[in-house]
Amino acid sequence: MKISTALLVLAAGASMAGTAGAADIVGNPKAAPNKIEQCIGCHGIPEYKGTFPEVYRVPKIGGQSAKYIEAALQAYKKGDRNHPSMRGIAASLSDQDIADIAAYYSQQSPSK
Ligand code: HEC
Repeated sequence: MKISTALLVLAAGASMAGTAGAADIVGNPKAAPNKIEQCIGCHGIPEYKGTFPEVYRVPKIGGQSAKYIEAALQAYKKGDRNHPSMRGIAASLSDQDIADIAAYYSQQSPSK
């Protein structure tokens, strides 16, 4: 009993440390332009509709909050969100890439 309690405490401590580490990452919008070249093809065109693997509407991401963009990209990366193109793209991004990209897009005007 005592051992399992100790393990639980350890595990909780470790997961808290992990969260603190992720929070240390600060997005730098100036680092984003060479990371978003692959995004522009789909997200840079107003009302653009992609056709593969099915017809879909590409959401506008410029002007959304950095937190929302970051959460969305992490969800694709982990598989919590399921769009195949976005999953492949998000999987190739590091946490720092995601933070930089989120910071960049949150500074865009939603009308662009
Ligand atoms: C092949 C086209 C394509 C490319 C390239 C692409 N996206 Fe997407 N993206 C989509 C589509 C389609 C969706 C909507 C998917 C869905 O319904 O889950 C989406 C959704 C998103 C969302 C969630 C938006 C919302 O309102 O919930 C974010 C954030 C995002 N993309 C960021 C990016 C970033 C950053 C890049 C470049 C690193 C990128 N995308 C590249 C097609 C693309």
